Amino acid sequence: MGFTKRAIACGKRNRYSRPVVTSHPRESAVFYRVPDDEYPTMVRASGFHLWDSSGKQYLDLSSGISATAGIGQGRPEIAEAMAAQARTLTFVHNSRVTNDQQELLAARLAGLAPEGVGRVMFTSGGSEANELSIRIARQYHLARGDWERTRIVTLSPSYHGATVGALSMTGRWDINRAYEPHLMDTVKVPAPVNFRGPFAGLEGESLAERAAEALDSAIEATGPHTVSAVMVEPVSPSAGMAVPPASYWQKVRDICDRYGILLITDEIVTGAGRTGEFLAMDHFGVVADLSNLAKGLSGGYVPLGATLVKTRIVEEIAVQSRRLAEVHTFSGAPISCAVGVAVLDVIVREGLMEQAAKRGAFLRSLLEDELGDLPFVGEIRGIGLMQMVEYVRSRDSREKFPPESDVAASLSSAMYERGVVLNTLGSQSALVGDCTVFFPALTIGETDLEQGVRVLREVLEDQHGRW
Ligand SMILES: Cc1ncc(COP(=O)(O)O)c(C=O)c1O
Repeated sequence: MGFTKRAIACGKRNRYSRPVVTSHPRESAVFYRVPDDEYPTMVRASGFHLWDSSGKQYLDLSSGISATAGIGQGRPEIAEAMAAQARTLTFVHNSRVTNDQQELLAARLAGLAPEGVGRVMFTSGGSEANELSIRIARQYHLARGDWERTRIVTLSPSYHGATVGALSMTGRWDINRAYEPHLMDTVKVPAPVNFRGPFAGLEGESLAERAAEALDSAIEATGPHTVSAVMVEPVSPSAGMAVPPASYWQKVRDICDRYGILLITDEIVTGAGRTGEFLAMDHFGVVADLSNLAKGLSGGYVPLGATLVKTRIVEEIAVQSRRLAEVHTFSGAPISCAVGVAVLDVIVREGLMEQAAKRGAFLRSLLEDELGDLPFVGEIRGIGLMQMVEYVRSRDSREKFPPESDVAASLSSAMYERGVVLNTLGSQSALVGDCTVFFPALTIGETDLEQGVRVLREVLEDQHGRW
C-alpha cells in the first residue's frame, strides 16, 4: 500500500497534515497524541534511514525526534551491550545497591564534563532529569539553611518537558496553557532572541547586556533570597535555535553567583556531542551547577536521562546528612546504563563530536547557499548539527505567516511524501515563526545532507505560493 497515494486518495491527513497510511485504522487500541488521527507504521531502521509498512524508505534528518537517535539506528554493538547486560544482571534498584554499569556510566560522564562536575544521578528521561535537578537544588539550599529559596526562574520561550513540574518551567504557552491550574508558579524572563521581540536587532555585547539585565531585574523583583535556581537551555529550539553570545551566558553565571542561585542547564537536546562539544555550555566557557542530559545520551536505544552535578553541591547535601528519599524505578538501571556506556563509546571512538562540528558547518553553508536567496527565508540559525530555517512573509518586517497558512504542517507533509523526515515547528510564540529544524544523526554524510536540503528547496519552491 502506498503511503501517499492511499492517503491522498482518502484525503486523510493527521495533525501535521501528513498524508497517512491507513493500515492501522480506527480499531487501533493506541491512545494517540491526537486521538482520532491515523499514523504511518514504521517497521525498520538502519543508520538514519527508516522504512514504513509499505516498504517506502525515508531519510531521517530529525534523529527520531529532536536529536534522539544520534548515533544511528540498529547498531550491533549497542544491541550486543543491551543483550549482554540483560543476560548478566537485568535489574537491581539503586536505593540499596549499585551496579557496575551505573558506576561506569557516571564515571564516563564525569570524565567528559567540565572540572568540578563529578557526580551523576540517573533518570528515565529529560523531564525527569529537569525535575530532579530542581529537587537537588532544593536539598542543597536546605542543607545550607536557606529555607526560603523556592522560586525557579526560566526563559521564555523554552521547553523543559512534559511532566507537570517540567511543564511549569516551560516557557511555551501553546504547550502548557491547558494545564495552567496544575502548574507551579515559576518566573519567566525573555530569552536572548534578537530576531523579534524586546531584543530585536541587538547583537553581541548589547544583546548580552540587555538580556542579562532582564534576568537580573526579574530576580531582583522576585527577591534574590527566594530564588533557588535559574534553568536554561544553552541553545533552545523553542527560542528558534538562536545562539546567544558567550558573554550572555557568562553574565548569567555571574548573576547566579552573586545571588547564591544555582544555574541549571537543560542540555537534553544540546548535550552528548550534538553541538560539537560534549555540552553546549562548553562553547561559552560556562560551567553550570547542574546539567541535564537525555535523548542523545542513549541514542534512542533505551529511555535514559542524567543530571550531572558539581561535586561541591553533593558534598554540602551529604554533610548535612540530607537525602533524596524519592526514587525513580529506572534510575541507574543496569541495562539503560550499559547502553549509555556503549553509546558514549561510539561517540568518542568515532569522533562524533568533532564530526558534529564539521558536518554542522557543512550543513549551515549548504542551507545558506541553497535556501539563502529565497525571499521567504527569514534567517538560518543554529550550532553544530542543530540548525533551523525560519520562514517569514517579509524579510524586511520579519512578519510571520499567519497560523491559517499552515506553513510548518504543509512542509512537513510534503517532505514526508518525498521521503525526508524533518521536524517542523509552527509558530509557537511571539518570538519564533514557522521553522524547519535539522537534527540529523551525528553520523550523517554530506551527500545525505545535500539530498535533504535539495528536497527541501524543491518543496519550498512548490509550496510557498500557497502560503
Ligand atoms: C530541551 C528539552 N528539555 C526537556 C525535554 C523533555 O525530555 P523527555 O521527553 O525525555 O522527558 C525535551 C524533549 O523534547 C527537550 O527538547
